Amino acid sequence: MTTPPDLTPTTGPDRPSNAELMALAERLAREAGDLVRAGRARGVEVAATKSTVVDVVTAVDLASEELLRRRVAEHRPGDGFLGEEGDDVSSSTGLTWVVDPIDGTVNFLYDLQSYAVAVAVVSGEPTPGTWQVLASCVLRPSDGTCWTAARGVGAFRDGERITVAPARPLAETLLATGFGYDPERRRHQGEVLAGLLPLVRDVRRTGSAAIDLVEVASGRVDAYYERGLQPWDLAAASLVAQEAGAVVTGLRGEPAGAPMTVAGPPETVAALVALLEERAADVGP
Ligand code: IPD
Repeated sequence: MTTPPDLTPTTGPDRPSNAELMALAERLAREAGDLVRAGRARGVEVAATKSTVVDVVTAVDLASEELLRRRVAEHRPGDGFLGEEGDDVSSSTGLTWVVDPIDGTVNFLYDLQSYAVAVAVVSGEPTPGTWQVLASCVLRPSDGTCWTAARGVGAFRDGERITVAPARPLAETLLATGFGYDPERRRHQGEVLAGLLPLVRDVRRTGSAAIDLVEVASGRVDAYYERGLQPWDLAAASLVAQEAGAVVTGLRGEPAGAPMTVAGPPETVAALVALLEERAADVGP
């Protein structure tokens, strides 16, 4: 494994460089990944449901977030914390850690391999479009694959630099997407997808938004779009995609976020954005 170079200057006496923050994000994600892998080996059950009966949380999601919360407080006292499963902690340093303790919880429940621990550190308000993601790690515990990124430094998979695939015509584009948990939103998402399916090479649904985005970064799918992403679904993997050369955006000139996230090489994203806007993919449920 090669060590990514640190090209980012330290921005203040107490502020680590982006590369140092990336190393910490990786360390925390690997620790949570070990916990998640051990939890999966012991067997997994649904602990609770959230927005709908299919939106589940397991005891391992909760334990993984608790561990990340504790480690952030130990390593970076004063930094804020925003996670999928617990209370927010506001920041007194200007930095906030945005984490998904398991992205792809349904895959985790079924022992399918595509789930991830996603750890990002952002400056500013921890809100998509407002934040600046400084460093991140997306770890897939099932096989240990580790994607990292630091703003201005680059994106890496297991320490090797990665870049998005070159843009292809839409008809040759392998497109990843995902669906929300609300039945009405899903109906709408299905209608939009039905219109796109005849226009692209094929469609993939991995069940983890973070994995979708880092696979765009790796050039293993060409592009991705989804409505309804939460900050923790987006933060870590969006930086990996951007540092690998992808555009990550919303529709109608908006930044990527809950209404819509589109990612891929610039020309592919431009074509997809036009199609999604025509179909009002960001409007409605
Ligand atoms: C979900 C996954 C899924 C995506 C959903 C997300 P969760 O996250 O990323 O791929 O389609 O929009 O909510 O609930 O497994 O953390």
